[in-house]
Amino acid sequence: SSFLKSYRPHLHFAPQQNWINDPNGLVYFEGEYHLFYQHHPHSTVWGPMHWGHAVSTDLIHWEELEIALYPDEQGTIFSGSAVIDWNNTSGLFPDEPGMVAIYTTHLETPDSPNSPYVQSQCIAYSHDRGRTWTKYEHNPVLRSADRKDFRDPKVFWYRPKGYWVMALATGQSISFYTSSNLLDWKLVSEFGAGIGCHEGVWECPDLFRLPVEGTEASKWVLLVSIGDSPELYHGSRTQYFTGSFDGRQFMPDHSNIQWLDYGRDNYAGVSFSDIPQSDGRRIYMAWMNNWRYAHQLPTGSWRGSMTLPRVLSLRSIKDKMVLCQRPVAELDRHFTSKTKLRSLSVADGQAYEVDLPASIADINLHLQHDGIEEFGVIIHHTADQQTTVSYNSGSELLSVKRQLTEDAEYALMFNRPQQIHIPSSSHFGLRIVLDASSVEVFINDGLYSITSLIFPDKTCERISIYTRGGDIRLYDSYIAAAP
Ligand code: FRU
Repeated sequence: SSFLKSYRPHLHFAPQQNWINDPNGLVYFEGEYHLFYQHHPHSTVWGPMHWGHAVSTDLIHWEELEIALYPDEQGTIFSGSAVIDWNNTSGLFPDEPGMVAIYTTHLETPDSPNSPYVQSQCIAYSHDRGRTWTKYEHNPVLRSADRKDFRDPKVFWYRPKGYWVMALATGQSISFYTSSNLLDWKLVSEFGAGIGCHEGVWECPDLFRLPVEGTEASKWVLLVSIGDSPELYHGSRTQYFTGSFDGRQFMPDHSNIQWLDYGRDNYAGVSFSDIPQSDGRRIYMAWMNNWRYAHQLPTGSWRGSMTLPRVLSLRSIKDKMVLCQRPVAELDRHFTSKTKLRSLSVADGQAYEVDLPASIADINLHLQHDGIEEFGVIIHHTADQQTTVSYNSGSELLSVKRQLTEDAEYALMFNRPQQIHIPSSSHFGLRIVLDASSVEVFINDGLYSITSLIFPDKTCERISIYTRGGDIRLYDSYIAAAP
């Protein structure tokens, strides 16, 4: 293997310079996908937030554009969403449809005895495909009466009733507002008391309808990110609820906690607005990071990146609805080689080694067995640096174990295995997407995902598939790769 020249990803968005966190304003318009994001343009640590901006035509290769939104007298620019006002409901688009950004302004009030900051919702609009923005002259459009945490508006058009709905993070709940014009908002319900995980502040909601795979049915899904707190073993993390929505209120199916990802590095994810009906996908993207160690990443002059864009769906497993994720099909086009792996058996106690054709790889494995103690896939960076994806039949845990070589303060938390309980089964599908500083594992055709950053010294050169306590058969497997 060769020394890594940089941790800069090939398949993922990362800024040219400085700090980023949440994706914001994900929207499709006139052939372009827009990715705005929380950005500090003058530092590699969080600070006065702006909205950075990048566009893509294939969701994989991004072009960074000028900063879209700068702080102003209302405050710095926190997370939010963007929509296309097709029917000029706002009155801001007399000539042709355009883009509206709905975002939070965060105003620090160090002298205030009650709260160190005030958060309000503002809007800005663009007549030129997001290149330049005008802030609405009567901002803010939504002010809090009494809430300190009041942020991250996600707006969508609710067709059955013909109005806009805003999901807003309000402390440890999500509040829903409606509007006919994006400018005047009315509170219609609040969700969250006594349900879900409350070990951190609720952030970055999203609410949408999703099809249930293999059926004509669909359900509403509410995503809620949970900010880091010392109680959270995993650091910041995202939960989801399935249920129904009548245009005013979200009614959950049950009160169990469900996690969107079992890795440490998938946070503040939301979905694209205005994907054409002819496409019909619900495309999701998140900040590939964790607030617990986000400021310490050893990436140099830039810091932060996004996950792969993923298509979401629901799968009914026993009596549960599980939120599934698969990388968008556009990813396949990035790879220049596709190597089929021979179908073969790996005998108990043995390992099968496969050289990677290139270090950026999409590894697709199908494995079958009649009883084993443990099997796994080791991704070799160097002799003593590896990332391991393994399944243990005794504990029924699928684990991704990564290692930080640097002697960093966050290494303990970083190196703890990332695990998910999966009942024993004779077949496993593993898809492992390997970029310069990340490993995204998708299990059983997107049923579960484990997203993690990695910081090896060297590029990944080979994988080995090992087994203990029984043979394992490899079938229908391939590796797509690109230099
Ligand atoms: C989530 C978050 C949001 C907030 C933004 C500030 O990561 O804390 O709630 O709007 O980041 O950068």
